[in-house]
Amino acid sequence: MKPLETCSRLCPRCLRTFESAGAACPHCALEFELRGGVLDVLGPGERERRAQEVEAFYTRHPFPGYAPGDDGPTLLDRSRRAPFLVALDAAIDAQATVVDCGCGTGQLAAFLALAAPRRRVLALDGCRASLACADEFRSRAHIDNLQLVRADLFDLPLPQRRFSVVLSRGVVHHTPDPARAIACVARLVAPGGVLVLGFYETWARGLHCARRALGRVLRSELRAFDPVLRRADLDEEKKRIWIADQYRHPLEHILPLPRVIAALEREGLRWLRSVPPAVDGAALFAPTPRPGAAGLFALRSGWLLRGANDPDAGLVIVVAQRAE
Ligand SMILES: C[S@@+](CC[C@H](N)C(=O)[O-])C[C@H]1O[C@@H](n2cnc3c(N)ncnc32)[C@H](O)[C@@H]1O
Repeated sequence: MKPLETCSRLCPRCLRTFESAGAACPHCALEFELRGGVLDVLGPGERERRAQEVEAFYTRHPFPGYAPGDDGPTLLDRSRRAPFLVALDAAIDAQATVVDCGCGTGQLAAFLALAAPRRRVLALDGCRASLACADEFRSRAHIDNLQLVRADLFDLPLPQRRFSVVLSRGVVHHTPDPARAIACVARLVAPGGVLVLGFYETWARGLHCARRALGRVLRSELRAFDPVLRRADLDEEKKRIWIADQYRHPLEHILPLPRVIAALEREGLRWLRSVPPAVDGAALFAPTPRPGAAGLFALRSGWLLRGANDPDAGLVIVVAQRAE
């Protein structure tokens, strides 16, 4: 691997690459602090109180956790056993520039970068510790086409309407203002581009909320009723992180699907589909009819009913597109 000082960096603002290890992009003068391979545009300044609480939480529990000994081949192998990730990789052009907003420890971004070495993947998060974890993996797995950036979702250093694929999974519901967070990521999508937005949907997460409330009364995580905690093949460290994320998070909203669709439409994005239902291959970005009232009821009832065995605890993906 190249020594760090000579590695190519991708500027999140002008999307040009540069080689220097200085403190600003030589093309557009965006200022940053360099921490390992992470461009930190937030710097040491104090963040708003709720953002600090969320960063402190993920500093204690960087999410998602890596398994001991994880490397490029094991991450690729694990990701290729997840049907949604296979569909996402198949749907994204192998030379696209992709941005992941709220990447956490960067597993999704690292997978998409490893799966297509000519893709450029920008992965942003507000949490230094999660990004340090992502950077350690990036360096160990020799991923040169992944640029990690520390930035706030509400003040992104990215050009608007420039990205053909914008991802944000499991993030907007952990901010003080999910509707504004949705608008911030939606604005990045180029004409004809897509947003893949993952969020806790009200009906889909209903059963988990009930399980968590009962667990609080009984002072237990009710492991036997949680499909992730029931898994015999999962190590205790991953379960510890899951318990923190699902049962002890300091800031969580649940979002009704109709309100999310309305927020996307206000930003000029139209419905392509949701997951679930599962989808094969490149069909992830193929349009399906926008559900009306009856369709929404059927979709959300299905999510509610599958809640007991949902390994994502009510995380729903909506794919939306900006008109050309
Ligand atoms: C549950 S994790 C999701 C990680 C990853 N997207 C995934 O799907 O595995 C939520 C992430 O959102 C980040 N986040 C929350 N609020 C943020 C904000 N205002 N700006 C940047 N990142 C934020 C957290 O630091 C955390 O890493």
